[in-house]
Amino acid sequence: MDYEVLTVKPMTARIGAEIEGIDLSEPLSNKVIDEVHTALMQHQVIFFRDQELDHVRHKELGRAFGELAIHSGVAGLADHPEIVAIHADEKSKFVAGENWHSDLTCNEIPPMGSILYLPVVPEVGGDTMFASMYAAYEALSPGMQTYLDGLYAVHDGEHVYRPIVNDPNKRFPCNTHPVVRTHPVTGRKGIFVNPSYTTEIVGLGKAESDGVLEMLYKHCANPNFHVRFRWKPKSVAFWDNRCTWHLAVWDYFPQVRSGYRVTVAETQRPA
Ligand SMILES: [Fe+2]
Repeated sequence: MDYEVLTVKPMTARIGAEIEGIDLSEPLSNKVIDEVHTALMQHQVIFFRDQELDHVRHKELGRAFGELAIHSGVAGLADHPEIVAIHADEKSKFVAGENWHSDLTCNEIPPMGSILYLPVVPEVGGDTMFASMYAAYEALSPGMQTYLDGLYAVHDGEHVYRPIVNDPNKRFPCNTHPVVRTHPVTGRKGIFVNPSYTTEIVGLGKAESDGVLEMLYKHCANPNFHVRFRWKPKSVAFWDNRCTWHLAVWDYFPQVRSGYRVTVAETQRPA
C-alpha cells in the first residue's frame, strides 16, 4: 500500500503501525482522512506521537470516521458526554481494561473503534497491548474455523460495569454476536469473543462453552498475534474494535496515567 501524505511504519507483520507526517490538532483533509482509514484497516491499530488534542479536536477527529458513541457503561465528561476520562493514580483500586477485551461488545452494535489520547503517562510502564483477531482466527486449524463459523455468543455488560457504577437502577446491555465475524470493510474474518464480556456460547452445555472459550482465549494469548505500545506523553492510539482485543497493563501504581477517549460508532450489527 502506498501512502502519499502519511508515513506508515508497521510494528509487526500482523498488527500495529506508527503513523508520522500528520498533525491531529489541525482539521484533516479528505485525502489524509482516507489514508488514516486505510492504515487502520491494514494495521488494525495505529499510533501517533506528540499530538495536541483538546476535547473539541478530539471529537472532530473521531467524527471524521463515524458518529461518536456515548459509552453505555460509564458517564462521559459533563461538558463533553462523548469523551470518557481514563485516569489512574495512587488512589486507584483498579484500572479500566485490565483484562483482554474489545470495547463494549455487550452493545447491540459494538463500536467501530476508539481513539485514546494520553497527555500524562508514567515514567515507566502503562503500556497497552493489542491482539489481532484476524491473525488469531487465521492461525486456527480449518476444522476449528469451520466449527466456530456458525456459532453465536452472549456478551453481557452487567458483570463488567455493576461493580464500578454506583447506580442500582442502571441497566447494562446484553447481546448475542457471531463467534467469528466478517469485517464490514476488509471482508476478513476474525474471532469476536473476549474474556471480559462474553459469558457463553449459545446452544452449548456449560462445560462445552467454557471449554471452547478457554481454548480460544489461550490461543489468542499467543504473542505472535500481539503488539505492545509504549506510551509517551501526548501519544494517540486509534484501534479498530471489530478485529482487535486490547489490554491496559497496570504496572505503574502509584504513578499517574491520565487522558481521554472517544468512541466511534458502527452502524451495522456484527455479522
Ligand atoms: Fe477498552
